[in-house]
Amino acid sequence: MMTDPPGGRFGVLISGRGSNLVALLEAVRDGRLKATPAVVISNVPSAPGLRSAETFGVETRVIDHRETVSRENHDRRVVEELRNHRVELVCLAGYMRILSPVMVQEFPGKIMNIHPALLPAFPGLHSPRQALEYGVKVAGCTVHFVDEGVDTGPIVMQGVVEVRDSDTEDTLAARILEQEHRIYPDAVQRFFEGRLRIDGRRVVGGGSGKAR
Ligand code: GRF
Repeated sequence: MMTDPPGGRFGVLISGRGSNLVALLEAVRDGRLKATPAVVISNVPSAPGLRSAETFGVETRVIDHRETVSRENHDRRVVEELRNHRVELVCLAGYMRILSPVMVQEFPGKIMNIHPALLPAFPGLHSPRQALEYGVKVAGCTVHFVDEGVDTGPIVMQGVVEVRDSDTEDTLAARILEQEHRIYPDAVQRFFEGRLRIDGRRVVGGGSGKAR
């Protein structure tokens, strides 16, 4: 088991690879993120991120969405598990589910997501591909609080990458992912330091994602 660092407790929701989850757990291990990863929950039983969580000694749960008829009832099960683990912040990390109001209202201003685009541009799926096809010259990633829309909540932090003429969807996505791994732990640390304040659409205390 990991020793509990000072700071709050967070849960991570995943559906797949879990590289952002690993970035958060490495930041905890290295002392850059002073918080406790209380539980990792996946809606997909085969998600590789579950194995990664176990190697860090973090508790895992599978709550398979196919077992529950309605989105609300699935979210109620997830909320119950997060509450059982006394989670104060929920981090979505490649969680391929749209949250119902049940979840969003249970954790107002306490759910974060990482998205591979400079929102509000290119919400939804395949954002690096959308960016390339549109022809933008800078792309990036966004940490935002989650509201009841898709990729619409107040922006905490963004990381920027230049688009190169030679880029493919894969090369651009890989450089964006490096920035995701850098800014997500930073944003979560700022949350637990009490530095983030939501003021309408603006989040005070976030940042451009540049090194502090
Ligand atoms: C990342 O690109 C993230 O921005 C998006 O889904 C992907 C998840 O990757 N929300 P991983 O599972 O964290 O490796």
